[in-house]
Amino acid sequence: MSSFSTANPSVSASELRTFLPSSEFQVDLHVFDRLDSTNTYAKELARGGCCGDALVVAGAQSAGRGRMGRSFYSPDGTGVYFSILHPTEKALSEAVFVTAMTAVAVRRAILRLTGRSLGIKWVNDLYRDGKKVCGILAESVCDPQGRTCLIIGIGVNWYAGSFPKELSEIAGSVEAPPTVSRSALVAEIYREWKRLSVSENAPWLSEYREHSTVLGKRIVWTENGQRFFGTAVDIDPRGALSVLTESGERVTLFSGEISVRIDPV
Ligand code: BTN
Repeated sequence: MSSFSTANPSVSASELRTFLPSSEFQVDLHVFDRLDSTNTYAKELARGGCCGDALVVAGAQSAGRGRMGRSFYSPDGTGVYFSILHPTEKALSEAVFVTAMTAVAVRRAILRLTGRSLGIKWVNDLYRDGKKVCGILAESVCDPQGRTCLIIGIGVNWYAGSFPKELSEIAGSVEAPPTVSRSALVAEIYREWKRLSVSENAPWLSEYREHSTVLGKRIVWTENGQRFFGTAVDIDPRGALSVLTESGERVTLFSGEISVRIDPV
């Protein structure tokens, strides 16, 4: 018996296909009620040989993974967890660019479907009212032909729901209306992602900057166990974060995690 709430029916492959007709989208669909991790499943698919794009979608994950080796809370009924598998000529060093581009695709899709305008925290998180509602994890593997396959995992807290105590202060939900299905969200994000992925000169970058929650803010980050302080001044064309340190030096961050500094009052 399914444990999914009837108000939020599970993600459905047939519904997803109606949003992404084969005549328009050459993408394989792998849809599950539950997986350990859609990124892990997508990696296995890629290692078996990836011919083209695929979407791996789950209504819940038992071992959802986040950045920095963290876990990603992935309960059933309220969220949607999926990975875009995409063979590419590009190197993993472009992961920060792809992650930033994906954040804009997710932001646009959610705005279109719900009218809610989310903030983007460099590089991979989307926020609503100060709480994280989406995380993105870009990885890559080689297929048997030695081609790179990008795996972009996206987790969205879509419908209203509750969080464990340790997350309740930091995690939130889009609180999408029940009439907007999770399949509709996956399809809209993928459509937008495809559009952006073929665009030249990253026209989405200005939107990323406009909705950044960190630009102009004093931030702190850690490298090799040492804390650094500065002001976030730009997102460069590679998606990297340009920072002016307290000693007046300009540095560029390509990875890692930053926090906005809350000054004592
Ligand atoms: C983060 O916030 O650190 C990134 C979270 C990424 C979560 C998504 S959910 C779908 C995909 N499968 C995973 O195991 N992780 C990503």
